[in-house]
Amino acid sequence: MLLGVNIDHVATLRNARGGNEPNVIEAARICMNSGADGITAHLREDRRHIKDKDVYSLKRDLKCRLNLEMAATEEMQKIALDLLPNACCIVPERRQEVTTEGGLDVYSNKNYMKEFVKPLLNSNIEVSLFITPDKEQIETAAEIGVKFVELHTGAYSLAYGSVNEEKEFIRLKNAAELGQNLGLKINAGHGLNYENVHRMHEIPNLNELNIGHTIISKAVFIGLDNAVKEMLKLVSK
Ligand code: PXP
Repeated sequence: MLLGVNIDHVATLRNARGGNEPNVIEAARICMNSGADGITAHLREDRRHIKDKDVYSLKRDLKCRLNLEMAATEEMQKIALDLLPNACCIVPERRQEVTTEGGLDVYSNKNYMKEFVKPLLNSNIEVSLFITPDKEQIETAAEIGVKFVELHTGAYSLAYGSVNEEKEFIRLKNAAELGQNLGLKINAGHGLNYENVHRMHEIPNLNELNIGHTIISKAVFIGLDNAVKEMLKLVSK
């Protein structure tokens, strides 16, 4: 399994004071040198953490493998087509939310999404749709013509260690299997941490995990290079 490190919260910390500390590009460089397979960054409509200059610098100066998380808006589509990240993960976005709370409702917005992803796919960007592990969302994603989905692991992560863990885990596992049977490659992320990530190995052939908050949090105590390496031991074994 590959590990994409989400560095949004390095930018959250930087923006708390303005200025350039901690430096987002330096953080990405450390993640890549520690063995991460790529960097994930969410350019939100309100630019609350990652800014435009960050994503351009990640792609053009650092030249790391960049997975740009973005909403399905005209503005973001324009940026993606100019930036040409390696991958785009399309996520839902509401200004009030603390983080990306739900999955994209591709089932109800199939035609819009199909048109939205076309120019991205034509530009050879790997497009994935961030969806909850539900049958109708996965089937629709496959019909839209993308090759990747990212399954929202938030419900599993929240349920981990509780009576609902098994139910949420099976939901994820079944969704991954269905997606693979439909020809999709399956990524996963949101809320995964050092304790709960191990069960992702029970899901055959997951392609990539995108993990942010827990890595950046651990980095406060043990340094970013160690935090990434510890997660890599759990993810890539
Ligand atoms: N994947 C997607 C699509 C996300 O929106 C996020 C959160 O920005 C993540 C992964 C990473 O989640 P976390 O920070 O909880 O690891």
